[in-house]
Amino acid sequence: MSEATTTTADSGYDRVWKEISDLGLDRFAGELDEFGYTVVPPEIASPNGLAKKMLEACLDIAERRNGERPDLATGDTHAYLGIETTGTSRKKGNKLKGRMPEMTDDRDSPVGDVMQCILTEDQVFEEGLMNPVLLALASYLCGYRMVLSGMACWMKGPNETSFSLHSDSPEPSPMPPQSFVTQCTYVLTDYNRENGGLVIVPGSHKLCRHPEPEEARIGEDGNPDAVVVEAKAGSLIVWHGNTWHGSYNRTAPGLRVSVTNFMVRPFIHKLEELSGNLPQEMLDRNSPRFALVTQHGLTPGRLSQADGQEKVARANKYIAAFEKATGMKYRAGKNDYFN
Ligand SMILES: [Fe+2]
Repeated sequence: MSEATTTTADSGYDRVWKEISDLGLDRFAGELDEFGYTVVPPEIASPNGLAKKMLEACLDIAERRNGERPDLATGDTHAYLGIETTGTSRKKGNKLKGRMPEMTDDRDSPVGDVMQCILTEDQVFEEGLMNPVLLALASYLCGYRMVLSGMACWMKGPNETSFSLHSDSPEPSPMPPQSFVTQCTYVLTDYNRENGGLVIVPGSHKLCRHPEPEEARIGEDGNPDAVVVEAKAGSLIVWHGNTWHGSYNRTAPGLRVSVTNFMVRPFIHKLEELSGNLPQEMLDRNSPRFALVTQHGLTPGRLSQADGQEKVARANKYIAAFEKATGMKYRAGKNDYFN
């Protein structure tokens, strides 16, 4: 835990630590402190076949969005995707376009097809988001009031281009030691070198800065401290927002499939605007914390005085429901671990 974190009795720290202990996650929290990432194995991270259900749901989404069911065995449907630039698919001319708009040279996509905004596509993603293991580790890094910024499915077939090392933190260097964001990734097919899995620089979260270009390269002449993270399907990988990470290209046939839950402190810009935009039945069937995790305890930017009042009233309603159901206070001061 960062030294900058307050540990006063009512700060929320005690609650988060109790959740970590009750769930037997102490070792993983310790790895987050020491290495800046942790891999929670399938037997802990994916209760009740969660990962298998998520994988099927992702294949369904891809089929709906792209008109073709992904080929898990060969990965042909996602091989050598072009990079979407000005609407023109580059490189291999695959039917799909990889989505990495800032990259404009003649390479294929390092990330494959990234399908954004999937929370409402299948109920299993609510289950994945509210998995107590994910919530406890995300709260450990980003405080109890962290929220979902965006949920996406990443589907990568054989490709040529590695994904350079980077930090997910949105702030410029130097970065604070606290994690402002955390990527919580459900691994849905095995991660290893040949499958184009994750590469991480252990301990890089402590550097509190983004990598320089020469430090960001991976491969033979790349960053010597970068290691491949092996993880079985069903694992949950969590990393500190400052941690340098990327991925190798996929040399094996087949697809690398993952679902990312990008969790952020409440004051950080969100990738998706969820508050007020989720189906009421989704909120009704979940716990009061689901509403808060999906941004409903926050007030998005106001469009007018009346709109602002409406948004504050909406947030207050969901916070009150949470406090009533749990007997806990949700609001916090700025030195509070809830933030
Ligand atoms: Fe990243």
